[in-house]
Amino acid sequence: MNICVIGSGYVGLTTAAVLAELGHEVNCIDKNKQKIDMLNNGKVPIYEPGLKELIDKNYNRLTFTDSLDDYIKRASVVFICVGTPSLQDGSTDLSYIEAVIDELANRIHSYKTIVTKSTVPPGTNEWIYNKLLEKGVSPELFNIVSNPEFLREGSAIHDMFHADKIVVGLRSGDHQSLTVLQKIYTGINAPYVITSLNGAEMIKYASNAFLATKISFINEISRICEAFQVDVNDVAKGIGLDPRIGPHFLQAGLGYGGSCFPKDVKSLERTALSKNIQPYLLQAVQTVNETQIDIYIEKLKTLFSDFTNLKIAVLGIAFKANTDDTRYSPAERFIRHLSQLDCEIHAYDPQAKLQNPPRNVMQKESITAAIRDADCVVIATDWNEFKQLDWLEVKQLMKGTIIFDARNCLERSKIEKHGLHYVGVGRG
Ligand code: UDX
Ligand code: UDX
Repeated sequence: MNICVIGSGYVGLTTAAVLAELGHEVNCIDKNKQKIDMLNNGKVPIYEPGLKELIDKNYNRLTFTDSLDDYIKRASVVFICVGTPSLQDGSTDLSYIEAVIDELANRIHSYKTIVTKSTVPPGTNEWIYNKLLEKGVSPELFNIVSNPEFLREGSAIHDMFHADKIVVGLRSGDHQSLTVLQKIYTGINAPYVITSLNGAEMIKYASNAFLATKISFINEISRICEAFQVDVNDVAKGIGLDPRIGPHFLQAGLGYGGSCFPKDVKSLERTALSKNIQPYLLQAVQTVNETQIDIYIEKLKTLFSDFTNLKIAVLGIAFKANTDDTRYSPAERFIRHLSQLDCEIHAYDPQAKLQNPPRNVMQKESITAAIRDADCVVIATDWNEFKQLDWLEVKQLMKGTIIFDARNCLERSKIEKHGLHYVGVGRG
């Protein structure tokens, strides 16, 4: 099929590359000309494992342009994958979606299935449908489908090929779009969840909100564990063996970040409030998450009386491992919070870059450079290369002996056998 993907970011590029791999002709459109130029020069503007290889492999089925005009006529399907960031009050900024609708409205001259993949609050797809009608597009010439993505950055391609579900939200009376979606996703073996437009939008938010709730739950449990010298990882393992709970998303640490959980939980809270529904749990999930970094800073303060002459190595800037994305990164927020204690911070990340670091924060090009003469090493993102460090070598490089594991990703015994001191929160 001939498909247009509007928005070539983390979601759009992965979607386009996978659809091309499935055999479709895919035209990627993005208003950011710099991104499009990079893609046309064989470069990928984001780090997502396997994405460059998949784009290169399907180069003859992928095109990149910054103009909707070039390909919209030939496309029978249009995926909307533009950003839907938070507004100041936490509700969702739909201005990019609106911009796309404006551009699409006077370019629909043959039938299109318009698929919203961007995460949008319940009611948005109905709103998109009505806006296109208001702009004079004939209802004979399009249908709107809500098809939210469940891609995790760092494993987005795997998550799309091995989706645990394909969620399809349809307008009542739309008896043709499901067949279109099934043709698009031929080759992906996953159960379909067929629901209304609002239903599909709600599944996306409820999914992210539940995962965020699991994380805030285990983070709150880790605070109680700290008071009873209990290792929260033992608790996570213990409860995770119950199939009703499951072992995933129970890793306590600096809290959740990224371009999704923070904005989606806040958006769902605002959606509830807009209907005069009190989202107590969603608010508590955010409160735990927003105070989690303070817990780690306070713990660090118990280890050193004076920070002014300290040198602290912080390993990790990205919001999680295997990505260069620093949007709402807990590691970055931790670095900025720590920098207010006037210590010298040497930060390192394999992929992510600190934007406008405070004056006492330097990003180093290697782990060795970051760790050298450090009084303390903090693990702020759970990259594998930090988990596999040679701790004897680390000890020889450091001035101090404290390893502060803010992601609960290290094995205490491997560190302590070299005379280093392992410190975490809720680690017994
Ligand atoms: C983001 C959110 O993370 C995700 O939850 C939501 O479902 C979609 O928006 P992501 O791909 O991470 O997804 O966003 P981003 O990396 O910012 O990419 C959005 C792209 O859309 C950008 O490249 C931007 O230039 C482009 N865009 C935006 C357009 O092409 N046209 C527009 O009018 C607005
Ligand atoms: C998430 C959802 O998993 C995905 O389904 C949705 O499509 C987009 O949002 P993503 O934001 O890429 O994906 O990252 P994810 O792996 O979910 O982690 C989110 C945050 O939670 C990260 O900051 C991560 O470090 C943190 N996290 C995750 C924990 O602190 N503990 C955990 O056990 C798991």
